[in-house]
Amino acid sequence: MNAQEYHGKIKQILIPHTEIAKRIAQVAGEISAEYEGKPLLLVTVLKGAFVFLADFCRALTIPCEIGFMRVKSYFDGTISSGEVTVLLDLEQDISQYHVILVEDIVDTGRTLSTLTKLLQQRNPLSLKVVALLDKPSRRVVDCRADYALFTIEDRFVIGYGMDCGELYRNLPDIAEFDAQHTP
Ligand code: IMP
Ligand code: MG
Repeated sequence: MNAQEYHGKIKQILIPHTEIAKRIAQVAGEISAEYEGKPLLLVTVLKGAFVFLADFCRALTIPCEIGFMRVKSYFDGTISSGEVTVLLDLEQDISQYHVILVEDIVDTGRTLSTLTKLLQQRNPLSLKVVALLDKPSRRVVDCRADYALFTIEDRFVIGYGMDCGELYRNLPDIAEFDAQHTP
């Protein structure tokens, strides 16, 4: 699926997949050096981070295991209550691993802050966060990714795993959604 096939729903391509691939190669290189010889578990937050995870894990030059979580954030109208419930949990006992949490976007920071607290309680050997995108202007809860591949302004983005109404996840690039359209 490409941008033409989603014609009319996309305001602009913000980050083409070629640029994403270059940043992944850089960051994966740094992380491969840092975690060489250590038991590494990539914990991915479904669904938005699944495309990023697929490219990121294949760009690493060291062994790793993969785990999946799914969380739901509760909203009262458009205001998040800050409550995040775990819908799908890990199979692994993470106390045996150096954990990297792989996220698509850090937006208000509520999801990341809740998840990092939850994972820390399980005593991993270490915990770091790799996020594809950071929207610092939207932050409500103070938190940050150890590695953020791109920092963007307050725009609603789709593609490369990220959705609007469950569509557009299979667009290869990161694009800005045209809010004049419904999903
Ligand atoms: P937070 O808890 O507000 O930081 O929200 C994080 C989650 O909201 C991300 O992991 C995404 O799944 C979703 N999200 C935030 N901004 C966007 C966006 O621009 N497009 C698609 N999903 C988004
Ligand atoms: Mg997410």
